[in-house]
Amino acid sequence: MKNEKWITIEQAAKKWVLEAAKLLKDSFENTLTITYKSHIADLVTDMDKKVEQFFIQKIQESFPDHKVLGEEGYGDDVQSKSGVIWIIDPIDGTTNFVHQQSNFAISIGIYEDGVGILGIIFDVASGDFFFAKKGEGAFLNDVKLPMLENVALSEAVIGVNATWVGPNRRINHENVQSIVRKSRGTRSYGSAAIELAYVASGKIDAYLTMRLSPWDFAAGIILLNEVGGIATNADGKPIRLLEQNSILASKPGLHGEMLDHLLK
Ligand code: IPD
Ligand code: CA
Ligand code: CA
Ligand code: CA
Repeated sequence: MKNEKWITIEQAAKKWVLEAAKLLKDSFENTLTITYKSHIADLVTDMDKKVEQFFIQKIQESFPDHKVLGEEGYGDDVQSKSGVIWIIDPIDGTTNFVHQQSNFAISIGIYEDGVGILGIIFDVASGDFFFAKKGEGAFLNDVKLPMLENVALSEAVIGVNATWVGPNRRINHENVQSIVRKSRGTRSYGSAAIELAYVASGKIDAYLTMRLSPWDFAAGIILLNEVGGIATNADGKPIRLLEQNSILASKPGLHGEMLDHLLK
């Protein structure tokens, strides 16, 4: 992916992410307008909308033939994987953005004909900038990340949201409990993009969740591919890029061990 076209896209995407991050940081000075979407735990702020619109305007000006799939719905009605598609989560971890002003990220995955080419996850408050380019590796703050190594579940720290440890309608929670019991520990950060970036950078060993949308995982799975991580549905099947998916993302080896528990 060394061609000029992708170098131009990479430079633009990185620049816009830093500019959007500044909008988010500056917003800490102001009062947020907070509403909710499907239910009271599903928050959205004026900044989620503003940042998505910021990206769409920039992309339309510079790359009018590209499509955008964004969480807040200002982009295109993307039904097919053909062409270049920017899959954007303007703020991943809106609850953290509202409650903590930390642990939220801008997440962008750029795909061509369904193949992930560029992934950016910027943890705005910490300044951790995760980037990956197909065939060139994944980077944290411009330092190349090493390939992931195998680890046993008994020595692994697993990212999992408490929702899935108790009875729920998406998975047999006893199987999730057996993973939790066998692991060294669990963590929950409240931003799927950050959790996927943490798997790619080795801070945690796996991340398991039962329902994510394309903008939650689009960038993260590009990062993981570049470091030898494995990301599938929680039943081991391939992720469907434009749909909601359960996600099991982990180091190699551990992925199979966790699937053995999940498919019991
Ligand atoms: C949410 C976060 C959260 C995950 C939810 C997502 P949002 O994204 O990634 O960690 O558990 O499933 O919807 O709404 O804050 O962009
Ligand atoms: Ca949301
Ligand atoms: Ca999200
Ligand atoms: Ca979001």
